[in-house]
Amino acid sequence: MADIAPAGAAIARAAALLQTGRLVAFPTETVYGLGGDATNDHAVTAIFAAKARPRFNPLIVHVRDLAEAETLAVFNSPARHAAARFWPGPLTLVLPRQPSARVSLLASAGLDTVAIRVPAHQVAQALLREAGRPVAAPSANRSGRVSPTEAAHVAEDLGDDVAMILDGGPTPVGLESTVLDLSGEAPALLRPGAVTLEVLTKLLGPIALTSSGLPKSPGMLASHYAPRLPVRVAATDLRPGEALLAFGPNAPPGFAEVLWLSRSGDLAEAAANLFAMLRRLDRPPFTGIAVMPIPEHGLGLAINDRLRRAAVPRQIPPFK
Ligand code: TXA
Ligand code: MG
Repeated sequence: MADIAPAGAAIARAAALLQTGRLVAFPTETVYGLGGDATNDHAVTAIFAAKARPRFNPLIVHVRDLAEAETLAVFNSPARHAAARFWPGPLTLVLPRQPSARVSLLASAGLDTVAIRVPAHQVAQALLREAGRPVAAPSANRSGRVSPTEAAHVAEDLGDDVAMILDGGPTPVGLESTVLDLSGEAPALLRPGAVTLEVLTKLLGPIALTSSGLPKSPGMLASHYAPRLPVRVAATDLRPGEALLAFGPNAPPGFAEVLWLSRSGDLAEAAANLFAMLRRLDRPPFTGIAVMPIPEHGLGLAINDRLRRAAVPRQIPPFK
């Protein structure tokens, strides 16, 4: 089982592990990442193996600042604007890869683009600085499952496959970063997140939504972020056996258990609670998880995106 270490004192040890090709889970402001040296093919291969992630689904490369990002990707003017405004922060940019980029081709799954992010979390920043290299890090969950927002979630999913888990407490945003593709003719939102569509549109003008057809971002595969139990979205009525995730002051009565995403109807609070609460309700004797309607604006777009994917019927082994 992996060593769960309080982040403060363990950064140097974690950085040394990364430098020797080992995997380290670490907190970011969005979710916990499963980090490996992005310049090392073996480390990148180990990330795909630990997550059981399809090799065609590329990873986000984390760097400490814009200067390091510019050694990996070609920045056009919208990319500069977005980086100046939102980095460090929960925004990932998909950009053309620099031919000289020091990043394993496996990390970007052979594409001529690369996804880059500068995380704001203090622990992530300290780790990137100490490691002195770009760190590839998908969310630290098994492929297709709910992303981890606490160190204990990482231990549950990947405990045997990671050398160390840096514990920085619960992650403040709670949903994965916004993924914005600026490599094509027009900006395209590949994954909604805490940097909202409204705010990006104000900065960059119209942004295409990639909702149909072949996913450009393989993380857009329909079923994703899935607990084992069936999830029912926009629920307003009671179904026997279900547990409820409530939003707003009034929950329909009679559910076996109710957890409040946010009693006051605050979207940021709901986002921060979502994944941990899905995990808590994902157990017998419940037969499903119902979720009350969430408004479709701002962060609500990202919450509903994750919920819709969690609600897609799928084949996951039942509880043992
Ligand atoms: O908040 C986050 O972004 C977290 C933390 C750890 O940084 N990371 C994360 O990584 O969510 P992951 O691997 O779970 O999601 C990365 C998403 C996937 O949907 C992937 O398909 C997409 O980014 N992606 C990565 N590289 C891409 C590329 N070159 N072109 C298009 N999509 C890309
Ligand atoms: Mg993920």
